[in-house]
Amino acid sequence: MEKVLFVNCCIRREASRSKMLADFFLSELLKKGSYEITELCLMDENLSYMSEGNFHQRDLLLANRDFSHHRFHYAHEFAQADKIVIAAPFWDLSFPALLKTYIENLCVEGITFACNEQGCFGTCKADYMIYVTTRGGFYEGSPMEMGSKYMEAMSQFFGIGKYDCVAAEGLDIGIRPVEVILEEAMEKAKVLAGNF
Ligand SMILES: Cc1cc2nc3c(=O)[nH]c(=O)nc-3n(C[C@H](O)[C@H](O)[C@H](O)COP(=O)(O)O)c2cc1C
Repeated sequence: MEKVLFVNCCIRREASRSKMLADFFLSELLKKGSYEITELCLMDENLSYMSEGNFHQRDLLLANRDFSHHRFHYAHEFAQADKIVIAAPFWDLSFPALLKTYIENLCVEGITFACNEQGCFGTCKADYMIYVTTRGGFYEGSPMEMGSKYMEAMSQFFGIGKYDCVAAEGLDIGIRPVEVILEEAMEKAKVLAGNF
């Protein structure tokens, strides 16, 4: 069984269209019978972003190369997963700050990445990251779309070779029915789940 880490940042929980899309993708994966999915629901976590005291604590631990502290368990869990699925809505041209806070907790030199004379390189085990999102407007291919673009860069940074995004767009514009847009995105999700 391959270990899939599902990072749920769908703030609106069961009302979230991004969550609906992610659930569909995960249900397609489960049909294959070869994945063990662990959900990390960020809304249930007490994540801290780096402010002064929090930063100094981290600095001290890293100086001593003490990676056993509880604050690093998100990074360990992420680094050890075989595949990663992240779901979040498109907010303010990227994603909720909660996801950025989680990423801040993931970026630990010595756990998820390392550095040498040539620069930094990812040390995560996963070979594939899927990012699931839904957007109110239309941003695919636009320089203003910085959610998926950022996640793709992070995926590379962590050393995860393959990245794909499943997105549904224009959900709040009212031009096309939401169900039709979601169904189209589910078709893409089905194909990606098949090749996961
Ligand atoms: C705080 C907030 C910020 C948003 N920012 C954007 C945005 O910048 N561009 C956009 O097209 N839609 C934006 N939206 C609309 C959401 O992207 C859209 O409703 C999406 O489907 C929400 O996903 P969810 O159903 O998973 O919560 C925003 C919605 C909220 C609540």
